[in-house]
Amino acid sequence: MDHLMKGILSPGLVKEVDITYNDRRENDEEETGLAREMVIVLDFGGQYNQLIARRVRECNVYCEVHPYTMSLDKIRELNPKGIIFTGGPNSVYDETSPHYQKEIFEIGVPILGICYGSQLMAYTLGGEVKTAPVSEYGYTETEVDTSSILFKDVEPSTVVWMSHTDYIAQVPAGFRVTAHTPVCPVAAMECAERKLYATQFHPEVMHTKEGQKMLRNFVYDVCGCSGDWQMGSFVEETIRQIREKVGTGKVLCALSGGVDSSVAAVLMSKAIGKQLTCVHVNHGLLRKGEPEQVIQVFRHEMDANLIYVDAVDRFLDKLAGVADPEQKRKIIGGEFIRVFEEEARKLEGISFLGQGTIYPDIIESGTKTVKAVKSHHNVGGLPEDLDFELVEPLKMLFKDEVRACGKALGLPDNMVYRQPFPGPGLGVRCLGAITRDRLEAVRESDAILREEFAKNGLEGKVWQYFTAIPDIKSVGVRDGKRADEWPVIIRAVNTVDAMTATVEDVPFALLQHITHRITHEVPGVNRVLYDLTPKPTGTIEWE
Ligand code: XMP
Repeated sequence: MDHLMKGILSPGLVKEVDITYNDRRENDEEETGLAREMVIVLDFGGQYNQLIARRVRECNVYCEVHPYTMSLDKIRELNPKGIIFTGGPNSVYDETSPHYQKEIFEIGVPILGICYGSQLMAYTLGGEVKTAPVSEYGYTETEVDTSSILFKDVEPSTVVWMSHTDYIAQVPAGFRVTAHTPVCPVAAMECAERKLYATQFHPEVMHTKEGQKMLRNFVYDVCGCSGDWQMGSFVEETIRQIREKVGTGKVLCALSGGVDSSVAAVLMSKAIGKQLTCVHVNHGLLRKGEPEQVIQVFRHEMDANLIYVDAVDRFLDKLAGVADPEQKRKIIGGEFIRVFEEEARKLEGISFLGQGTIYPDIIESGTKTVKAVKSHHNVGGLPEDLDFELVEPLKMLFKDEVRACGKALGLPDNMVYRQPFPGPGLGVRCLGAITRDRLEAVRESDAILREEFAKNGLEGKVWQYFTAIPDIKSVGVRDGKRADEWPVIIRAVNTVDAMTATVEDVPFALLQHITHRITHEVPGVNRVLYDLTPKPTGTIEWE
């Protein structure tokens, strides 16, 4: 649902006035609390660009990802304490591959080049990059020179993660080699005088055993950061910013109960209390207990203004007989906007719209080139006469930081650590044309699965798990008679980024127990199947 809510506005319909750290730094130098210092990740197309930023933030140093097309003037303006060049799939010799003007190495800001970024640094500064006959890939024992600041407290022989074919054959003048492997003569190089550092390997990935230490050395010892990015100060400062921005105005916020919209709503509620109105639309496709939890937490515990809209019949009537998954998604997204818009029109004097946009949404919308396999319902927009300004208090946070923020704000664990749940909800798990009885069977079987996973210690371990029911029946035996009933499919997968996924090895005895419960407690179900398909070839959801 979070995606759905993020998508309710199309760009251009609202005046974008963002609360960002940059604005704050420029306008508010004297304020205490938020990060003053920043490291910039310049993205050259590597798959780990966001991960680098997360790792830097884990060192309590604020970090933003920007495309390599960002101008040098803009970089100077941001006044970063350090810059990191990411990896990328290209070769520096391709005319079409991303490059950066040489002057960046002259501005006096420390730079760390990673993988392609290291080759780019070598190439731009007059070193030599060559293509190896075979790629170096995977865990690699590497000898490092521990007299380098970058390798302070790192073992002289350490395991790193390599993934490259091109390599630095000759370092530029003034540089020295600080690490090598049996096949890679320059696994790291530096010119300490100019604060330029480079690693052929990826310090940001977990497989580089001491990678976090290296990044920490870079941001603290090379860049001189002090580590002023802390969740407690983020919360305090963001609350202050929301108050300042909203003044005596009123904010409307769509609240799905998902992590992002919930944390954003709590932050806004703490900041402006009753000036905030949350709208929770129950489209009938939520999981068991979800609407009740939203009402309990926001209306009763947070004492927030919460409008609960029971739109179950409306959604299910619109969806009746519609079997095509894309069509179902469009109906759910479109109807959601209409319901939300109707509620917005009933309220007087709303001038702000609160949204749970998070940082990856922003980076991805700016850089995504991969064609979406399924439409993730970025449908339509509110009419132009609803002229809102946006309040997006989480727009600079990564998901794990949003969770930390939710914890700091006192949200319950089952909201903060909620597994991902698609915007169209159970609608894409009641396969084909949705009927109320089969939808109820999906909801009940999902509740049993969740309960059993929680009881058996799998709740925090498995990334996503749910049930789906296809629109078929098979014959079984119930009360001594043959009965045609539905099968329930269980899906339980692990993934890092949802692009690929592996199947959880759920203990067989537990699967049998869950099967027994579902077939005995959920009306209309006589079989349970476990989906053994990784992604690819299967997607995570069935529709
Ligand atoms: P697939 O099925 O494409 O899903 O492997 C990858 C992740 O995305 C979620 N998902 C959705 N989320 N709206 C959403 O907000 C959607 O329409 C949608 N479809 C899939 C899915 O649950 C998984 O986490």
